[in-house]
Amino acid sequence: MSAATRPITVVVGADGGIGRALADRLTNDPTYDRVVALSRRRPEGWDDDARRFWAPVDILDDVALAAAAAVVREIGAPTRIIVATGLLHAGGVTPEKNLRALDAATLTRLFTINAVGPALVAKHFLPLTPRDRSGLFAALSARVGSLADNRLGGWYGYRASKAALNMFIRGLAIEHARSRPLGICVALHPGTVDTALSAPFRSSGAKTPFTPAQAAGYLLAVMDRLTPADTGGFFAWDGATIPW
Ligand SMILES: NC(=O)c1ccc[n+]([C@@H]2O[C@H](COP(=O)([O-])OP(=O)(O)OC[C@H]3O[C@@H](n4cnc5c(N)ncnc54)[C@H](OP(=O)(O)O)[C@@H]3O)[C@@H](O)[C@H]2O)c1
Repeated sequence: MSAATRPITVVVGADGGIGRALADRLTNDPTYDRVVALSRRRPEGWDDDARRFWAPVDILDDVALAAAAAVVREIGAPTRIIVATGLLHAGGVTPEKNLRALDAATLTRLFTINAVGPALVAKHFLPLTPRDRSGLFAALSARVGSLADNRLGGWYGYRASKAALNMFIRGLAIEHARSRPLGICVALHPGTVDTALSAPFRSSGAKTPFTPAQAAGYLLAVMDRLTPADTGGFFAWDGATIPW
């Protein structure tokens, strides 16, 4: 295999719970030649070597994204770009239980991180994917972003920002297919995963969450089965289609 066609994967959000598990699993997968990990901070215990390296990126920073994309372009065309960033809660951000809790700054922050950031990643990295082979762009969304699936209400900002992310995916899949008919752009739901993001919201009677390593394995298996006919879709960790 020539250097130009060796599979390269980019994981954005590689210091998050699921992102790190994806980066680790891909590093150990001999099918991948290089893994490029991008995050605001270097993942704990991460050492660059011949098969993997890390570069800093804030997904809201166009200049940083352009710089990271230039680094990846030097290596070759990535055949897989996975966006594993996201926000559900943080200091000052708590999922809303009702309309009274709506706050403009919180809603804006959720939309910016969950929808605008992945769209900017697509802007900078989708043009790097190959034209002559299949290339995948997958963003981690959430089932609660499905309009059809919303039967409980609440969590307005997180739900609506993931629905906005899903619409970005749908639109960019259509545009991307015009120049790369073999390309695949999808939104994925990882299931409930034991990470800092989900920790405060797991009730005692609920099902045991997946470990990040389990979720990474399931997600990569789904990605392996996707074809260009699936582009623009929304899929769960088990490969099932989720209605918009
Ligand atoms: N865990 C679950 O049960 C679950 C369920 C459904 C969907 N999801 C989705 O899966 C994805 C990953 O979730 P997770 O559980 O792995 O969460 P996590 O451990 O909190 O990871 C999220 C990552 O996003 C990064 N991030 C946030 N804003 C960023 C920015 N501006 N630039 C760069 N990175 C940024 C964070 O980096 P910093 O450390 O720099 O803040 C963090 O590493 C999210 O989209 C989430 O909505 C998760």
